[in-house]
Amino acid sequence: MVNIQPEGGGNEEPLLPMKEIPGSYGIPFLSPIRDRLNFYYFQGQDDFFKSRIQQYDSTVFRVNMPPGPFMARNSQVIAVLDAKSFPVLFDVSKVEKRDVLTGTYMPSTSLTGGYRVCSYLDPSEPTHAKIKQLLLTLIASRKSYVIPSFRSFYASLFQTMESELAASTGAKSDFNKLNDTTAFDFLGDVHFGIRPSSTSLGTEGPSKANKWLFFQLCPLLTLGLPKILEELFLHTFPLPSFLAKSDYKDLYGYFSSAAASVLDTAEKLGLSREEACHNLLFATIFNSYGGAKVLFPGILKCLALADPRLHSRLAEEIRSAVKAEGGKVTLAAIEKMELTKSVVYEALRMDPPVKFQYGKAKHDLVIESHDARYKVSKGEMIFGYQPLATQDTKVFENGGEFVGDRFVGNEGKKLLKHVLWSNGHETESPTVRNKQCAGKDFVILVGRLLVVEFFLRYDTFTAEVGTIMFGSQVTVTSLTKASSSG
Ligand code: HEM
Repeated sequence: MVNIQPEGGGNEEPLLPMKEIPGSYGIPFLSPIRDRLNFYYFQGQDDFFKSRIQQYDSTVFRVNMPPGPFMARNSQVIAVLDAKSFPVLFDVSKVEKRDVLTGTYMPSTSLTGGYRVCSYLDPSEPTHAKIKQLLLTLIASRKSYVIPSFRSFYASLFQTMESELAASTGAKSDFNKLNDTTAFDFLGDVHFGIRPSSTSLGTEGPSKANKWLFFQLCPLLTLGLPKILEELFLHTFPLPSFLAKSDYKDLYGYFSSAAASVLDTAEKLGLSREEACHNLLFATIFNSYGGAKVLFPGILKCLALADPRLHSRLAEEIRSAVKAEGGKVTLAAIEKMELTKSVVYEALRMDPPVKFQYGKAKHDLVIESHDARYKVSKGEMIFGYQPLATQDTKVFENGGEFVGDRFVGNEGKKLLKHVLWSNGHETESPTVRNKQCAGKDFVILVGRLLVVEFFLRYDTFTAEVGTIMFGSQVTVTSLTKASSSG
């Protein structure tokens, strides 16, 4: 394990050798398409990067990132794939974060009411601070609602799961499907106090949201359809945004009435109601709902694949902490649950829900990996595939393995700065000046609450685990009800 110094190295450390960045972009137009096919179909994303690390003997290299032609004008990036070079992407004095959320292409702004929403703004753009402030204020003002709201929605999810499993021998329960409907209602309720399913959206919210998300993210997806169809319809030309217009309008209707008081606050911050409303929609559906669709199945996947002894240890820790608080799930009780907290960090480290990060060099700069330094010119696009940075064995012993108690104790806590899921170090906080996830603390809390609610109800479980779109598919096959209350 190495002690990583901030970029530039510590004074006492010898300077690493300056090297030319290996790799080439190949023949214009043709090579980006070849790389896209390798990425999606012939190698898969992990091998795509790992094979090049071996080929160049370097965790920093030049490569074309999908989608490429005609979706993106320029697919050339400098990949940074280790724990030391990756964090350059968080330094907004060095990289520009304007229009790079989805990478080398940007979905049409007609999918977001004509606005470039917060996630696409660089902090140097004045609107960024106003919108981010609005979201940070919103999250802080709703803090006391999170535990009761989460518990009520997810208790109901688990009851449904139990009845699905009890329906017949060999019955299974699709967690992702239940999570979609539950997360959508929970997020509306927790942020704005009105459950979307009780409004004119009815039960259609999640399907409308999924369609709108698909229109923005399909260039980054494969669905298992014939390659020629996917290439033509998903990866080469944008889907016409008018096809998602009426769904977006219905979702917008929910926010313009449910979030009326937040829109009043937005006006005081100098934002128009309209721009604020498109941003609230984006933060709730793209950032939060999109995140929850990947995060919750990701945590359950890690638990399903872990040794059942971890389940017993979690159940014991959670139940005794809750008992000590008089049977209540409180923030104080959760704070005492060292193993539960560690499991959530470890799931986020192994499987960060948002795996790709981008930033354009604001000026000529030097990137440093464990082995060498590399010059990057102003305007070049830097790209990070986060799982390789957070599984870096130079920082994490057995970095490719899920170790539930990795972050327990003082030594464990020291590793937290290398957990990067929030587009920043876990030891830092989102501000109006950086690009770290505005929902960071909220996300950590609900991740823990999922584990708490689960092991208050169950001793252990089994599940089938697979891969879909951006994350994991978890199909629960058995639940063993809690045998004690701690
Ligand atoms: C930004 C992850 C939930 C609001 C980000 C980024 C990541 C991320 C990786 C940086 C993207 C980039 O610029 O490359 C997640 C995950 C979530 C989640 C995995 C859930 C599991 C939330 C929630 C909110 C939120 C609940 C609620 C407000 C934002 C905003 C930004 C952001 C506004 C842009 C920040 C800025 O422009 O400075 N999130 N997020 N996210 N997230 Fe989250």
